[in-house]
Amino acid sequence: MLPEQLKAMNLQIMLANTYHLGTRPGPKVLKKAGGLHKFMNWDGNLLTDSGGFQMVSLLKLAEITEEGVKFQSLNEHKNEVMLTPEHSIEIQNAIGADIIMQLDDVVSTTVPDKARIEESVHRTTRWLDRCLQAHQNPDIQSIFPIVQGTLFEDLRRISASEHIKRDVNGFAIGGLSGGESKDDFWKIVNLCTDLLPKNKPVYLMGVGFAVDLVICSALGVDMFDCVFPTRTARFGCALLMNGQINLRKKQYALDFNPIDSDCTCSTCKNYTRAYLHGIVTELPVACHLLTEHNLAFQLRLMKTIRENILNGTFKEFVKKFMEDLYPKKD
Ligand code: GUN
Ligand code: ZN
Repeated sequence: MLPEQLKAMNLQIMLANTYHLGTRPGPKVLKKAGGLHKFMNWDGNLLTDSGGFQMVSLLKLAEITEEGVKFQSLNEHKNEVMLTPEHSIEIQNAIGADIIMQLDDVVSTTVPDKARIEESVHRTTRWLDRCLQAHQNPDIQSIFPIVQGTLFEDLRRISASEHIKRDVNGFAIGGLSGGESKDDFWKIVNLCTDLLPKNKPVYLMGVGFAVDLVICSALGVDMFDCVFPTRTARFGCALLMNGQINLRKKQYALDFNPIDSDCTCSTCKNYTRAYLHGIVTELPVACHLLTEHNLAFQLRLMKTIRENILNGTFKEFVKKFMEDLYPKKD
């Protein structure tokens, strides 16, 4: 997708990664370019994640100490690099995103070791203070703290209560969507949104399935990010209000309907399921067409959620959404 195509869809914010941009083109080039907005021709909003989570989740080689996250660099030298809270902020200042994230100590929800999780909660707060201290542009870039603590309610309470003492413009909930059950996931989101201030945005990191967007919006979350809609597009999957379809399946070979007749995206206006089926395993442009549709889907879903909240009809909307997604079997 080109930035100008995203703009034409009314998309307002994009996420970029400190870890990737710090490796290439690197902070020097980004600074000289006048920041990422200018460099990539995007005058909408940008948010950058701090890098530690990407290193820990992408590179199993990462090692976390009090100083920061140590990992093997992706550059040609393959040397060891230390990403400290200060260095993450230095790169994020060079990138110049409107919202930047603290470096956090992320532990997977599948780790049972409570002592390690408790350590990660306190370390995340210590790293938050180092990030706030290192930040060079607080007037134009807002740092969001990240609440950690996996599935332990007492640790989530400590994390949230520490972070709300800091003077910041918004908060994130991290460390979820990593293999825990939906019940556990929703319970922790509910707890965190109860604890965090109601007058500042709450951002749930790494969440993007339609059902989770609806439920977590109901629980009080305002912002989400996820690779899911664009990644699944590259596997031939198109998102619909009642689930998803994979256009690689033979059943679409003679289906001359659009992906979704309710969708106004240019893919649905101009191309059929049969056409997409024919190119989806052959031509990279199929990834583009499906990506455009899936982004339009996410934007439409979130717009519908906002409108129903403002109209006082959110409860009815959730009921209908769930009935469409999980129809009664007779
Ligand atoms: N992306 C998804 N989850 C997380 C998290 O817990 N921390 C950070 N920094 N990024 C994330
Ligand atoms: Zn569409």
